[in-house]
Amino acid sequence: MHISKEKRPLAIVIIVALLLLVGLASVFLILNFSYAHTDALHAVEIAVTNKSRGRGYNAEEYMMARQRLLSKEQRRALGAWLQLSEKESVLNEILLHEKKEIMEKSRLDRLTYTPALSFFKSKEWMENTTTFKIIRKMPKGAALHLHTTAMTSLDWLVKNITYREHVYTCVDKDGFALLSAFLHPPNDTECQWKPVSEERAEAPSSDKFDEELRKNLSFLIPDPLTAYSGTNQAWDRFNKYFKQVGSLLINAPIMQDYFRQALQEFWEDNVQYIEWRGGVRGYKEINGTVHDAVYGAEMFKKVVEEFVAQHPDFMGAKMIISGVRYRSEQTIEDHVKLATLMHRQYPNFILGYDLVGQEDPLNPLLFYLDALLYPTRQSLDDALPYFFHAGETKWEGTDVDENLLDALLLNTTRIGHGYALAKHPELADLVRSRGIAVEVNPISNQLLGLVSDLRNHAIVPLLADDFPLVISSDDPAAWEALPLTHDFFVAFMDLSGQDMGLGFLKQLAINSLKYSALDNYDKEAALGLWESKWNKFVKEAVAEFS
Ligand SMILES: *[C@@H]1O[C@H](CO)[C@@H](O)[C@H](O)[C@H]1NC(C)=O
Ligand SMILES: *[C@@H]1O[C@H](CO)[C@@H](O)[C@H](O)[C@H]1NC(C)=O
Ligand SMILES: *[C@@H]1O[C@H](CO)[C@@H](O)[C@H](O)[C@H]1NC(C)=O
Ligand SMILES: *[C@@H]1O[C@H](CO)[C@@H](O)[C@H](O)[C@H]1NC(C)=O
Ligand SMILES: *[C@@H]1O[C@H](CO)[C@@H](O)[C@H](O)[C@H]1NC(C)=O
Ligand SMILES: *[C@@H]1O[C@H](CO)[C@@H](O)[C@H](O)[C@H]1NC(C)=O
Ligand SMILES: *[C@@H]1O[C@H](CO)[C@@H](O)[C@H](O)[C@H]1NC(C)=O
Ligand SMILES: [Zn+2]
Repeated sequence: MHISKEKRPLAIVIIVALLLLVGLASVFLILNFSYAHTDALHAVEIAVTNKSRGRGYNAEEYMMARQRLLSKEQRRALGAWLQLSEKESVLNEILLHEKKEIMEKSRLDRLTYTPALSFFKSKEWMENTTTFKIIRKMPKGAALHLHTTAMTSLDWLVKNITYREHVYTCVDKDGFALLSAFLHPPNDTECQWKPVSEERAEAPSSDKFDEELRKNLSFLIPDPLTAYSGTNQAWDRFNKYFKQVGSLLINAPIMQDYFRQALQEFWEDNVQYIEWRGGVRGYKEINGTVHDAVYGAEMFKKVVEEFVAQHPDFMGAKMIISGVRYRSEQTIEDHVKLATLMHRQYPNFILGYDLVGQEDPLNPLLFYLDALLYPTRQSLDDALPYFFHAGETKWEGTDVDENLLDALLLNTTRIGHGYALAKHPELADLVRSRGIAVEVNPISNQLLGLVSDLRNHAIVPLLADDFPLVISSDDPAAWEALPLTHDFFVAFMDLSGQDMGLGFLKQLAINSLKYSALDNYDKEAALGLWESKWNKFVKEAVAEFS
């Protein structure tokens, strides 16, 4: 553009005017934005500031405004809306008192905060607290995220199962004891099988032998940081645990007893109901007979029914069939078809399907898309409910992170772990609006290397904002945790604030039933049963711990 000499002053004036306008507009926008930003504050404070317009707060006004903002914030947390009864308030005070004491001792005296340390180090310590003893007695509702072969204590496995006839052991090339049951052990040069009874007889004492065997199976060791330097090393050890017990627990009669004992231990830990993941195919007899899926489903169903008959205050257990994320697409498609059939045959016992295994390196859900879409492509009546493990990862923006996306698009009923969910605001909104519960397993996440100090668990912001969440324990037997108490304890001490007390625990218990796959009728019954247990518990706990 060419501007003649005479017109130059005019052009400069215009440009300056334009710049001024833009400047003014931005100042206006910025002011407006900051007004909008502080609007919420003003809304809360207007009542106190109104009468004193034209000057700043006095201290009393300030404290009132502060209290209002604080309450508004606190009311968003999980459990914050529950009205506590008089008795509950007493128990609440007991819990909050100890919580504050433990926290403040560490914060102010700058001592180690034991509840957030590795479970390897905190386990015994936490068992000593009043809070732990209260939580142990508390009816905790349901445990919704578990796996068949890590549900029953190692103590019982060693003291009961390995005392049976035909149970063999060998030491594999990595120095771990494997267990199995045979009529005649195979000639395996890699791992030489010997009857456990013979090995035990050669040991200095049975108790010593049993103790060593339990330690050999356990993920819990004195020096985890050296042994498991990262997520992958932890997963290798974890997978080894399943190898150590897997061949033993595929024996049908052994599994029946093992599973019955699991129910017993959950019941003793004051859990009222269970939904667990596992397989139904391939359970074997000692003579080599291999059973089909219907046999497996019937076997578990029978154990549950018998247990419920003997324990009318237990609401039962239902199963989610799970496959593993390293199989071929064809295998998973066959598995999905099988699960669809089983769900149709046992709609009230076989709940749906899931894929498990270390998410990071294994196939993402998308890899199995055709297989996973198969049921809805047949007929909507056949839709197979999914309960996907998803977002058990730190790898943001990767294929594994996107499992959350596919889990939601595939209409997952709940999300296993969902550790990465808070990093995905759009998906998190969807999870909240659809009421899809996230199954949080804090100790598992810590031991498998997602987070070290549990106060930094990525799910904490969602707990502070009353997301649909439940606490479960994943594989408590592998690391010798109680069925649910240890996980509830760390949720209380690490995943919730110093100000969150009994209401938080109570809401977790309510959530566990609310987000279970029980039908409405059974859910009401379960909540009713839980509530009567709860009231009894509150009364007894107040009497015992006041
Ligand atoms: C604040 O004062 C104005 C008038 O001065 C009044 O209309 C308004 O209702 C007051 N607001 C509150 C929240 O008290
Ligand atoms: C548990 O408490 C007892 C009694 O107060 C104490 O002697 C013991 O050292 C505690 N154990 C742990 C692991 O803190
Ligand atoms: C077991 O296998 C080894 C090596 O293959 C062989 O030497 C041995 O004879 C076998 N023993 C029996 C009892 O089959
Ligand atoms: C497991 O037990 C075997 C046989 O007693 C032993 O050689 C091995 O060192 C043990 N391994 C661990 C990790 O305890
Ligand atoms: C093992 O458990 C079964 C029940 O599953 C029980 O009948 C049996 O007495 C137990 N055996 C031992 C040695 O504890
Ligand atoms: C194997 O054992 C099961 C259960 O005891 C029995 O029903 C079956 O007949 C046996 N099969 C053979 C081939 O011995
Ligand atoms: C998920 O549910 C929505 C809404 O009911 C439906 O439109 C969609 O087809 C479902 N997707 C799958 C994969 O079943
Ligand atoms: Zn799991």
